[in-house]
Amino acid sequence: MRYVIDRMTMSDVPRVIEIERLAYPSTWPASAYRKELQDNRWAHYIVLRDKKIAQEQVAVGVQEPEKARRFFPLSLLPSRQTATATSPETNSIIGFAGLWLMVDEAHITTIAMHPNYRRKGLGEFMLVNLIDIAYSIGANWVTLEVRVSNYVAQNLYRKYGFHEKGLRPKYYSDNQEDALIMWTDQIHSPEYKHKFQQLKATLLRTLETQ
Ligand SMILES: CC(C)(COP(=O)(O)OP(=O)(O)OC[C@H]1O[C@@H](n2cnc3c(N)ncnc32)[C@H](O)[C@@H]1OP(=O)(O)O)[C@@H](O)C(=O)NCCC(=O)NCCS
Repeated sequence: MRYVIDRMTMSDVPRVIEIERLAYPSTWPASAYRKELQDNRWAHYIVLRDKKIAQEQVAVGVQEPEKARRFFPLSLLPSRQTATATSPETNSIIGFAGLWLMVDEAHITTIAMHPNYRRKGLGEFMLVNLIDIAYSIGANWVTLEVRVSNYVAQNLYRKYGFHEKGLRPKYYSDNQEDALIMWTDQIHSPEYKHKFQQLKATLLRTLETQ
């Protein structure tokens, strides 16, 4: 498949911040992600890569400096492009997500797709991966907060069996918006497992064809 999920690393953080700025009205500082990755053993962060972007970037990266060096002596000086360019691997990141394990609850802290790659099933792909992580680290439930106005994300969560279980008034400091608290049922219940496996299989079939 063209899309791959990797654990987030320190070198991914600048690209994650770029996507976060495009996806959320208010954002975490880069230091918060670095701290999460370094110090929080209960945190699990992933990035979603589009291998096609990496391949295209590698092709450009191989050809451009060679061409420049052949024809323009000034290009022997470090160019601005070289100084600021990030690696093809980093540029291929198009989404990220994360959760914390608290006892036996997986708390989804963030999930965001680059706006140019939405509505392709990829946010769903990241959610599926988070739920798989929740299974693998011994969680029994998955929970999250979502803005009351964020119907798009709520639709995604409802599709995966999240239900509203409460409200946190004025939870978001940027506009005092309330947060819905959503929970799955017990993810090890046969009903949830069955529903999850069916949704996942359908999604993977769709993504294979992209
Ligand atoms: C929420 C988000 C991650 C969804 O990513 P995405 O890749 O566009 O979503 P997908 O294509 O995987 O869609 C999966 C499901 O989400 C829901 N959904 C996605 N886009 C939708 C839209 N424009 N309108 C209604 N529902 C939508 C649907 O239930 C969809 O399932 P379906 O295709 O069977 O209808 C993305 O919109 C995003 O990054 N938003 C900004 C950040 C954010 O709000 N994060 C959530 C914080 S709690």
